[in-house]
Amino acid sequence: MLTLAQAAGDTDGAYPLSEHVVLHLRHGGDAPAVHLLARDQDGVLAGYAHLDTTDEVEGASAEVVVHPLRRRRGLGRALVRTAMDVADKTDPRGRLRLWAHGDHPSAGALALGLGFVRDRVLLQMRRSLFAPLPESRLPDGVALRPFQPGADDEAWVALNARAFADHPDQGRWTLHDLRLRMAEPWFDPAGFLLAVDEASGRLLGFHWTKVHGDRGHHHEHQHEPIGEVYVLGIDPDAHGTGLGSALTAAGLRHLRGRGLDQAMLYVDESNVRAVALYTRLGFARWSTDVSYRRVVHPVTAASR
Ligand SMILES: CC(C)(COP(=O)(O)OP(=O)(O)OC[C@H]1O[C@@H](n2cnc3c(N)ncnc32)[C@H](O)[C@@H]1OP(=O)(O)O)[C@@H](O)C(=O)NCCC(=O)NCCS
Repeated sequence: MLTLAQAAGDTDGAYPLSEHVVLHLRHGGDAPAVHLLARDQDGVLAGYAHLDTTDEVEGASAEVVVHPLRRRRGLGRALVRTAMDVADKTDPRGRLRLWAHGDHPSAGALALGLGFVRDRVLLQMRRSLFAPLPESRLPDGVALRPFQPGADDEAWVALNARAFADHPDQGRWTLHDLRLRMAEPWFDPAGFLLAVDEASGRLLGFHWTKVHGDRGHHHEHQHEPIGEVYVLGIDPDAHGTGLGSALTAAGLRHLRGRGLDQAMLYVDESNVRAVALYTRLGFARWSTDVSYRRVVHPVTAASR
């Protein structure tokens, strides 16, 4: 499977599976996944789909890949159709999203042809940490300090919900979601910066950085460690004060202080303000992931 994915990645210029799918394939995962295999007439493995049906909020999602030498024979369509059948059985609304890493015309043609619509475009942006870093200029009366596990948990969850009120994926994180991540080996409160109002102590914003591929933590990483702008959130009351830029710059300085030479982040292409902020701070597009969403007709699907 991974050899097949590698061959596709080499040909297409974008690796077809996401990191968590690769981790599941290598080490197994706690969440149940559906693996669909397509074999050519000669019995050779020619295509693969990974289907995750555990997200009750967003519905199932799948990643599909066909070997570059075995395309245009209907295998991609057969894999997606089978994934649609599984979605129909596991979700009364039959929802399904397909993730295409890289924005290939073939993926679009296949998905649109089966009644999917282009849904989200997620950009990965990168920036060298050797290039000069902007100053972190904080608004008056605002100070930065690291997150304090335990003491800051509840205030952070409330701030996150306010900052991401329009982005439910991120905004609905609970204490449990936070603590799951605090228990991860990569979690480091020193890289989780909070902006606080000096007078009241109230939290105004945060920049949570993450280091990927740190020595000893993730033996599955085959790349040099890289820093990530993991989540950046500003209280709506503090928008427009320059806090977003200041927090981003401070986090980048922290990452460079850790000896890292590159930073990356994911951002929705539709989040124009965030893309503009990151571009101003020297980030450029690195790769594009597109999700296609199946158009479901709730009444028809529910009455099946
Ligand atoms: C996308 C992908 C899975 C398609 O696999 P495939 O086995 O070649 O797809 P199929 O042969 O079933 O093609 C189904 C239809 O998709 C469309 N299509 C697929 N590739 C196409 C291309 N390069 N150009 C135009 N249309 C294309 C056609 O309408 C095709 O039907 P047709 O052959 O009857 O005209 C394959 O190209 C791939 O692995 N790409 C990299 C990974 C990826 O992007 N995955 C996301 C999938 S949503």
